[in-house]
Amino acid sequence: MINKCLNIEDLHQLAKKRLPKAIYDYMAGGADDEKALANNSSAFDRYQLVPKILRNVSHIDLKTKVFGCEIDMPVYISPIGQSRFFHPECDFAGVRAAEKSNILFTLSTFSGKSLEDVSQETESPKAFQVYVMTNEAENRRLLDRCKAANYKALMLTVDTIVGGNRERDLRNGLTIPPKLSLSSILDFATKPKWVWNYINDKGRDLINLENAPNPKDATNFLKYMGNLLESNLTWQHAKEMIEYWDGPFAIKGVVSAEDAKQAVKIGATTIILSNHGGRQLDSSPAPIEMVREIRAAVGDDVEIIVDGGIRRGSDIIKAIALGANSCSIGKAYVYGLAAGGQLGIERALTILKSELERDMALIGCTNLSQLDLSVIRDRQSANSFN
Ligand SMILES: Cc1cc2nc3c(=O)[nH]c(=O)nc-3n(C[C@H](O)[C@H](O)[C@H](O)COP(=O)(O)O)c2cc1C
Repeated sequence: MINKCLNIEDLHQLAKKRLPKAIYDYMAGGADDEKALANNSSAFDRYQLVPKILRNVSHIDLKTKVFGCEIDMPVYISPIGQSRFFHPECDFAGVRAAEKSNILFTLSTFSGKSLEDVSQETESPKAFQVYVMTNEAENRRLLDRCKAANYKALMLTVDTIVGGNRERDLRNGLTIPPKLSLSSILDFATKPKWVWNYINDKGRDLINLENAPNPKDATNFLKYMGNLLESNLTWQHAKEMIEYWDGPFAIKGVVSAEDAKQAVKIGATTIILSNHGGRQLDSSPAPIEMVREIRAAVGDDVEIIVDGGIRRGSDIIKAIALGANSCSIGKAYVYGLAAGGQLGIERALTILKSELERDMALIGCTNLSQLDLSVIRDRQSANSFN
């Protein structure tokens, strides 16, 4: 089945078949009217690739660096919370597949496997995604544990100051605590393999948080979750975290030039252009549409990553040509995970790599440094850039 998937959309459809509807909706849905979700991908269509012909493209080199780590192609895996929903091997499957493709894996604070176990699973470099929590001591302990476990980079997610309005989840009753609708309950019954795997999985939600109560203790769990994240989040919190971490540090959730400049000013080494895959502010711009403006604002030396809507190798090429250093994938990864665990993710990464190689050859570029505005045509202004 997996090998018959020719593109990321095929993996998406296979994942959809394998998951109960409520879980599928949690994975694939967005906020409000899901305009940002749709626009994240469709915004890539605004840009066309203009081939340079008759060049020797017999050898394509996709190697680059992210957070200072050498990777084999300019894409890595975004953090995915509640990963146990999608496959019992969840983050282990992700980190192993990332190692096979020699790319970086990011673990979410809300992962299904502990940060220490994931670190030990492979030797290849990993990043860890954090939030600012109300408990300052717990924040610091988490960072100390990441250092001890040899995570190479830290990314602070800043676009979840309040939860996005995900109406699919509300309708399905996938809330804290769950209030599953009758149709959701009946639908779970049609996916006995998923139910069996989930019930028998030894993992635990919020496994990285030392004081988290058992989710079965609904009252305490709800109280804990309600107070977990700092709602009065400011640049000062981010600055303190950057100083404490003292290594490659990304701010994830930037979509304005002004914020990008401020992030650099307080010491972030990397800006992740992201709107959380369209799961938070529905009216936010697509990350790809902001690349040129933000690159112009921060200059050439700051690392810029595009995260949102990447489904094809050509999307990655466009992002880099517009000024990004690399891209990261959320749903393209999790579709593979839900479709077939590690094999599914490997398939997703193989598909993206072969699309990248093919399209690089077709536009006459042999390495990433050749990607610039000269290969881009902006349909909106009906103009090539050079
Ligand atoms: C199911 C799911 C869970 C996610 N969990 C997290 C998370 O725990 N932390 C975080 O920073 N981003 C999280 N994200 C956002 C992704 O890291 C990423 O920004 C987004 O998926 C990129 O858009 P794409 O899905 O179109 O690739 C999640 C996304 C999905 C789809």
